[in-house]
Amino acid sequence: MIEYEKDAIVHPYVTRYIRGELFERDEFLRSLESYAEENNIPIVPRETASLLSVLSHMMKPVNVLEIGCAIGYSSILISRGLSLGGQITTVEYSPEMAAAARENIKRAGLSDTIAVVEADAKDYIKELNGVYDFIFLDGPKAHYVYMLDDCVRLLRKGGILVSDNVLYKGMTADDRLVIRRKITIVRRLRKFISALVKREDLKTSIIPIGDGVTVSVKL
Ligand SMILES: C[S@@+](CC[C@H](N)C(=O)[O-])C[C@H]1O[C@@H](n2cnc3c(N)ncnc32)[C@H](O)[C@@H]1O
Repeated sequence: MIEYEKDAIVHPYVTRYIRGELFERDEFLRSLESYAEENNIPIVPRETASLLSVLSHMMKPVNVLEIGCAIGYSSILISRGLSLGGQITTVEYSPEMAAAARENIKRAGLSDTIAVVEADAKDYIKELNGVYDFIFLDGPKAHYVYMLDDCVRLLRKGGILVSDNVLYKGMTADDRLVIRRKITIVRRLRKFISALVKREDLKTSIIPIGDGVTVSVKL
């Protein structure tokens, strides 16, 4: 019998070990982590944060699009790897979250670098026309599959699409873990992963850290 473990898609002792060994974040990011934990705000776990940080420093992106901003934690983290003059657009539909993110971004001195757009990403992404080096999909999980074409359209060749929570506490991988009320999200995440790996214009890796992350590069 498989047991459902909150926030654990690998053995918890492996996660504990990885978290213990991970890079030290600066004081500001740590304060956001504490705030998120105290207020039950879902931000990327540390091991996913570390992957985002590596990818951002590797890519040195000029234009970043993020779907799902919450309090601005991952935007600020990704901004550390931007090329000089690089910009991030992050989309968030909760007015409270968007306001908190703007405040945090201001405190981090990044108001000229990160723009928080208060909108429903499902509609907003259809109207976007920029060219992005790096897209981080971390918004409505049940809609990833419907946003995929637009993400690929907006990505430059060689650009990367990083999608979070794709293994969804293991439920995507095994029916025995699926909670009834999550069935629709799980089915759509499975469709999303299948669509990602089948696309001939992408190469995708599924990485079982945090809540499951895919990294796709546009060919
Ligand atoms: C997991 S949190 C984002 C965490 C953030 N990326 C971080 O790690 O710091 C997901 C966010 O997506 C937002 N969201 C959900 N559905 C959305 C939609 N349709 N359009 C825009 N934002 C959405 C939620 O309000 C929530 O703040």
